[in-house]
Amino acid sequence: MKNNARDNQNGQPTDSESQGNEMNNEFHQLFLDELADLLNAEMQLTKALPKMAKAAQSEELAEAFRSHLEETENHVNRLKEVFETLNEKVKSKTCKAMKGLVEEGSELMEELKGSSAIDAGLIAAAQKVEHYEIASYGTVRAWAEQMGHSEAVELLGETLDEEKAADEKLTEIARESANKQPA
Ligand SMILES: [Fe+2]
Repeated sequence: MKNNARDNQNGQPTDSESQGNEMNNEFHQLFLDELADLLNAEMQLTKALPKMAKAAQSEELAEAFRSHLEETENHVNRLKEVFETLNEKVKSKTCKAMKGLVEEGSELMEELKGSSAIDAGLIAAAQKVEHYEIASYGTVRAWAEQMGHSEAVELLGETLDEEKAADEKLTEIARESANKQPA
């Protein structure tokens, strides 16, 4: 928390100052909670991606999942680093949204076992995950900027860019395989 200039004589915060501090504190807590949610989401993904790579029919898609797994491991570390740059304890909180997305992905893999549509299904599941992450990282990056946490802005921005690139790669693979389908 920043030291606000005191404008009264006894050094006590004025009413508007303490209201402002409370607001800042609540906002900061919300920011930390969102980071904890994201950390858990990324950890869930490090377990889901190897299964998706195994289930993929095309080698290109399998490779995309494997390389995103490596990036995802890095995203876990980056989030831990964000907590460190904020001098906060690393925190993780079950991300129910990611749990749901991963569960749907597992169901899909089960249902599409042996189907020629499995890659299309896997791409759909993975893109839902990417979009969830893009929304979340976009938000925490913007909040970090608003609070002046420049190192966090940098780290979160790097991951955000990788999530966007992963999403675009999946779109590309989907397009290519659609072009290969007989008309
Ligand atoms: Fe990620």
